[in-house]
Amino acid sequence: MPNAHAAVDYREKEFPMTSKDFERIADLAGRYTGIVLGEHKHDMVYGRIARRVRKLNLSSFTAYLDFLEANLQQELSNFINVITTNLTSFFRENHHFDFLYKTVLAEVKRKNHATKRVRIWSAGCSTGMEPYSIAMTLIKFGIPADWDVKILATDLDSDVLDKARTAVYSVNEVDGLAEGVVKNYFQRGGTGKEVRVKERVSQFVHFKRLNLLENWPMKGPFDFIFCRNVVIYFDKPTQKILFDRYAELLSVGGYLFIGHSENLHGISDRFENLGNTVYRKIR
Ligand SMILES: C[S@@+](CC[C@H](N)C(=O)[O-])C[C@H]1O[C@@H](n2cnc3c(N)ncnc32)[C@H](O)[C@@H]1O
Repeated sequence: MPNAHAAVDYREKEFPMTSKDFERIADLAGRYTGIVLGEHKHDMVYGRIARRVRKLNLSSFTAYLDFLEANLQQELSNFINVITTNLTSFFRENHHFDFLYKTVLAEVKRKNHATKRVRIWSAGCSTGMEPYSIAMTLIKFGIPADWDVKILATDLDSDVLDKARTAVYSVNEVDGLAEGVVKNYFQRGGTGKEVRVKERVSQFVHFKRLNLLENWPMKGPFDFIFCRNVVIYFDKPTQKILFDRYAELLSVGGYLFIGHSENLHGISDRFENLGNTVYRKIR
């Protein structure tokens, strides 16, 4: 009985990739990123790692893996950058931004009246569209100008962070946004094919490289955390550790936003489920 793995004939591909190669890749990905690469990811893995094999002028996946293991310091970040999936968009899962605007920000404003301080974390922020969307929502809400507001935006992939820091996007990437949003929060780039997030938005966002599996230097507390479409790639024990750590860093009553296909059921009892993948810390 052929399995899914055997259905792909790598002998016809540009470089050979053996099942031992795939196991080594999956092992390294799990160890350094938490990302679980199941059997069904063979084609995806092939396409992504082939880019590195080609770039380094190597002749096989085995040669690449030997190179990677012998030169971890030099090659690991390239390996990580091709392994991560960075799909994102402005105002993705827009109901979260609605909820932020209508409920969370008014509450935060009341609660933090004395300190005038707001701390937000976008964990797994990819190319920055998520934290910039949060910043746009803060401006739309009318967060007072004299408040100390910071959005920490972190990711493991250094390439997406480089793009995020430029705050420059192609016009296609803002295509689906309402005209008013584009006008208010973006300025046209020189070629006409690009736009840049305005400084009044980007001033709130601070990008840092951070591996969610490692130590976190931040002390918190955060008023809310977005960690959307990130843990879906991790196994359940890793998810459990992560959500407990988020609970530690959130203020009591703080909010956690997760991705549309993720949930905390049977994973963490430190949050109440408010529906629509929004959770609130209860202990
Ligand atoms: C699919 S994107 C989600 C982007 C955004 N949160 C959204 O929902 O639009 C997942 C991001 O998680 C990041 N990521 C994966 N493993 C990570 C880890 N161990 N630590 C930090 N970030 C990680 C990836 O680099 C990627 O940019």
